[in-house]
Amino acid sequence: MKVFVTGGTGYVGSQIIQDLLNAGHEVTALVREGSESKLSADPDRIEIVKGDALEQESFSGALADCDAVIHLIAIIREYPQKGITFEKMNFETTKNVLEAARKHSISRFVYMSALGAKHDSKSSYFTTKAASEDLVKESGIDYTIFRPSIIHGPDDEFINYFAGIMRTFHVIPIIGAGRYRMQPIHLRNVSQAFVQSLTSVVAVNKTYEIAGPDRYPYRDMMGTIKGATGTWAIPMYQPKLLMVILAKLFQHFAFFPVTEAQIIMLYDENITEDNRIWEDFDIEPIGFEEGLREYL
Ligand SMILES: NC(=O)c1ccc[n+]([C@@H]2O[C@H](COP(=O)([O-])OP(=O)(O)OC[C@H]3O[C@@H](n4cnc5c(N)ncnc54)[C@H](OP(=O)(O)O)[C@@H]3O)[C@@H](O)[C@H]2O)c1
Repeated sequence: MKVFVTGGTGYVGSQIIQDLLNAGHEVTALVREGSESKLSADPDRIEIVKGDALEQESFSGALADCDAVIHLIAIIREYPQKGITFEKMNFETTKNVLEAARKHSISRFVYMSALGAKHDSKSSYFTTKAASEDLVKESGIDYTIFRPSIIHGPDDEFINYFAGIMRTFHVIPIIGAGRYRMQPIHLRNVSQAFVQSLTSVVAVNKTYEIAGPDRYPYRDMMGTIKGATGTWAIPMYQPKLLMVILAKLFQHFAFFPVTEAQIIMLYDENITEDNRIWEDFDIEPIGFEEGLREYL
């Protein structure tokens, strides 16, 4: 298949492009001007389309000879003062890519949503993901939607950030009591699901919540990360209300480590009972500790 990938210079997209090539697919990647160097795949093996998902005419023509689209673009933190908003980056990009896909009779659309996406969420990250899901479902194109929990793996921002804090400052930052549960999924498992969904009959017009095989209260998960780093660190509990107020004030500055959406995500519990990823796809689940040992 010839697959048009958006977000291919990102953390998840880099793995997906690699796995698409390994599976024998051809890849056309939408890449913003100046981001070419972030592509980890051999540039000779992929077709690069320089453009911006916010400007449909900059990439639409490139879909003419593609069979499928994997749409990954989204942001987890908005910077409204710079015009970088969830509405634009999560919703409008999806609208543009879908319109282009319909114009060029794309037969399969695989959309990256997020666990917790819903219309009545307090976070626009999740409401814009839910609204984007609606667009995908109403497009008339055969689709598969994935809603992953936190994705971990080499170079992820979340686990590596906390491992760094533990190694450097010997503390484990915990919001509230840290009892809320998490079920991180390994990057390779997510990528496998995306690649297999392109040719799967059972995955047509399905929405999958996907999470890893291990579920922990947050503070235990942090203990597991500490164990994998081999360092010592003591828990540092921070009141939830204080962190929400600070996040509201500072989340639009990159230095602040957590956004309101991420705190909501924590307290909503980033877990799922949906096990269909392991039934509908040929994927060997990667355990959390097994994954950590690879990269910490
Ligand atoms: N990471 C997780 O734990 C997690 C969990 C659940 C769901 N997700 C979802 O997974 C997807 C990918 O996440 P990620 O962690 O890989 O994000 P990421 O590393 O920040 O990558 C985002 C990608 O989107 C591209 N992009 C942004 N705006 C664009 C535009 N206007 N035109 C073209 N490309 C644009 C970026 O390109 P540049 O290189 O030019 O910036 C980059 O390739 C997102 O939809 C996210 O919501 C992630």
